[in-house]
Amino acid sequence: MSEIQIEQIRDDLTWRIRHEAMYPDLPLEAVKLEDDSEGTHFGLYAGDQLSTVVSIFSEGTTYRFRKFATAVDAQGKGYGTALLKHIIEYVTFMGAKMLWCNARVSAAGFYERFGFVKTNKISRNYNIDFVIMELQLDN
Ligand SMILES: CC(C)(COP(=O)(O)OP(=O)(O)OC[C@H]1O[C@@H](n2cnc3c(N)ncnc32)[C@H](O)[C@@H]1OP(=O)(O)O)[C@@H](O)C(=O)NCCC(=O)NCCS
Repeated sequence: MSEIQIEQIRDDLTWRIRHEAMYPDLPLEAVKLEDDSEGTHFGLYAGDQLSTVVSIFSEGTTYRFRKFATAVDAQGKGYGTALLKHIIEYVTFMGAKMLWCNARVSAAGFYERFGFVKTNKISRNYNIDFVIMELQLDN
């Protein structure tokens, strides 16, 4: 496995991987968030390749992560796991009491491994089913 490094990155660096992994059939514009400039963005580099990205937004002690994505040819190598662990540690350090996401139902099993619990808040967008999942933190 290439050497892994996690860094805080500029918002525009997340867009290519978001697009490729999440909405390749939509224009690039569709993966940009209105409040991207207010988020904290992390990237996992495998060697010199930016491979996984995630964006964090906070409202007081409640933190949300959005647009978590691993480049298609880098999936299944543990990079998502490493980055999610990193952001759980990061938000805990920042004083978060809760971390949540609006997960694709197809990815809910992945988040359950980290202790995220499904709520009854479900939705459907772009023909994809979503469920809000929450992780309570010890702060
Ligand atoms: C979900 C995603 C970010 C995971 O990143 P990744 O780098 O592939 O994750 P990992 O390699 O760390 O996967 C770890 C484990 O979770 C499993 N896993 C990956 N995606 C999963 C999913 N959607 N559902 C259940 N398990 C999943 C892997 O098979 C792997 O299992 P193993 O440890 O038994 O081999 C990535 O698959 C992705 O970008 N998917 C498309 C976009 C997406 O759905 N993003 C999430 C939006 S809510």
